[in-house]
Amino acid sequence: MGYYVPERVVTNDELSKIIDTSDEWIQERTGIRERRYGRKHEETPSSMGAAAARIACERAGIQPEEIDFIIFATLSPDYYFPGCGVLVQRELGIANREAGALDVRNQCSGFVYALSIADQFVRSGTYKNVLVIGSEMHSMGLDFTTRGRNVTVIFGDGAGAAIIQPSGDPDRGILNTKLHADGTYAEKLAFINPGSHGGYHLNKMGEEFDYGYPPSDTYGEIFLTPKMMEEGQYYPNMEGQFVFKYAVQKFPEVIKEALSDAGLTTADLNMLIPHQANLRISQFVQKRLGLNDDQVWNNIQRFGNTTAASVPIALCEAWEAGKIKDGDIVCLAAFGSGFTWASALMRW
Ligand code: UT7
Repeated sequence: MGYYVPERVVTNDELSKIIDTSDEWIQERTGIRERRYGRKHEETPSSMGAAAARIACERAGIQPEEIDFIIFATLSPDYYFPGCGVLVQRELGIANREAGALDVRNQCSGFVYALSIADQFVRSGTYKNVLVIGSEMHSMGLDFTTRGRNVTVIFGDGAGAAIIQPSGDPDRGILNTKLHADGTYAEKLAFINPGSHGGYHLNKMGEEFDYGYPPSDTYGEIFLTPKMMEEGQYYPNMEGQFVFKYAVQKFPEVIKEALSDAGLTTADLNMLIPHQANLRISQFVQKRLGLNDDQVWNNIQRFGNTTAASVPIALCEAWEAGKIKDGDIVCLAAFGSGFTWASALMRW
């Protein structure tokens, strides 16, 4: 495993200077003290992903040339298309190897979904070295005005990576992965514009929404209308409390599902790595599952919510800190936009 976070630390006080918010509000509601922002023009999700991948390769004892397949999870890609998988391949200098590259668009649960895909490829004997990356550069796409404060204060930049290989020991490795989704609430946490929807979904749901499209039957003319620009409709939108309520229900469910499928209980769990959405969510999940402080790793205080990167950064950090030892039962769990949620249980 490896992770990379940009050098620049952005404190709550710094945000308070440009947005009507406060260190007190942010810490009380989210637990976040600071987050990192990448260097504009110099860092991107794929460049940060490559930085994390280089560390992971070195620790796995392989050269990037030995990577058989790349899976890249992000919601803040360098480009709308192509995906970051091919960009990281190029960044690592292995484009000439022509190994496959796949992007996963599952937001907060993206890394766990990506890990599950890697697990299937390795288990089936198709590939030996699968590079899995979760990386985000949120700072490029947030609304730095008071209008967007409920979303903007939460998110940070960073990347985490893992090399998934076959284990020589049948008792160690990924025991199971559980993947779930419920598209009913797709718009509750979404980045809707620009897009090819033309208002379709919301209008179907009976929620008329004016994106400012001109009354015209012509195609291909507009991605962002002046109205979208004016109203900041091109920023992420989140109904925080709604998402919160769903998250605290689904996190414990998917963790228990993983443990029970492996014939284990919460008492067997050495380390839970929850997606770092909000410290209050992690604390609620911890309490609900009856876990003690040593069984849960949180770092949202220092990095904010890094979406697809949060699970691999937290996992890598916990391992580097010596909190995860060989043979430990480790559970990764995530919930987010989609809604999608997932867990991965492993014996380290
Ligand atoms: O990672 C993907 C999944 N995402 C999540 O799981 C996020 C889940 N939701 C949350 O973490 C929380 O809902 C938030 C942190 C986003 C918001 O916290 P909240 O306690 O649910 O606050 P709220 O949205 O209900 O807003 C409460 C008040 C409002 O003011 P009024 O209407 O009571 O006067 C907001 O305008 O707090 C206000 N507010 C803020 N005040 C200062 C919202 N954002 C801010 C802010 N600073 N940044």
